[in-house]
Amino acid sequence: MEKAIYPGSFDPITKGHLDIITRTSAVVDHLIVAILENPRKQTLFTLEERIEMLRLSTAPYPNVEIDYFGGLLINYVEEKNINIIIKGLRAISDFEFEFQMALVNRKLNPKVETLFMVTNSKYSYLSSSIVKEIAGFKGEIKELVPPAVYDLITQKFRHP
Ligand code: PNS
Repeated sequence: MEKAIYPGSFDPITKGHLDIITRTSAVVDHLIVAILENPRKQTLFTLEERIEMLRLSTAPYPNVEIDYFGGLLINYVEEKNINIIIKGLRAISDFEFEFQMALVNRKLNPKVETLFMVTNSKYSYLSSSIVKEIAGFKGEIKELVPPAVYDLITQKFRHP
């Protein structure tokens, strides 16, 4: 049984994240999309809002579960008997940090593999920060976020 985790901040989820989730869910038995709860990191959306957005966006995928964790990723991975960590790669600029994290996580637990899913080229420019930047200046983000959460996200910018 291949049990994978796709960890991230998802502040908010983008179409790029959803693309990675969709493609990963097609090749593993079970996928946990897990939000890092980091009290030191300022986020626009609360943990509950980010969980809700992930739930709505991934509703069509029965083998996808939404959860959150604090502290080290590898501790959560061990607790849940996960054997694969999925990371999305958009560009070379993502690589250096992700490479380091993959090596650290392998040092901490050599039985867990990090696999990199290359982004769909349609979304290679996309990030949560870009969505926040555009929406913050009242730009249109319809093409950038999953349809299921578009209203929720735009509302946040009207009533932060
Ligand atoms: O969406 P993000 O913010 O790029 O996601 C980063 C995340 C949550 C995947 C990464 O920061 C993480 O795994 N943090 C948990 C702490 C940890 O285990 N760090 C790796 C060892 S140094």
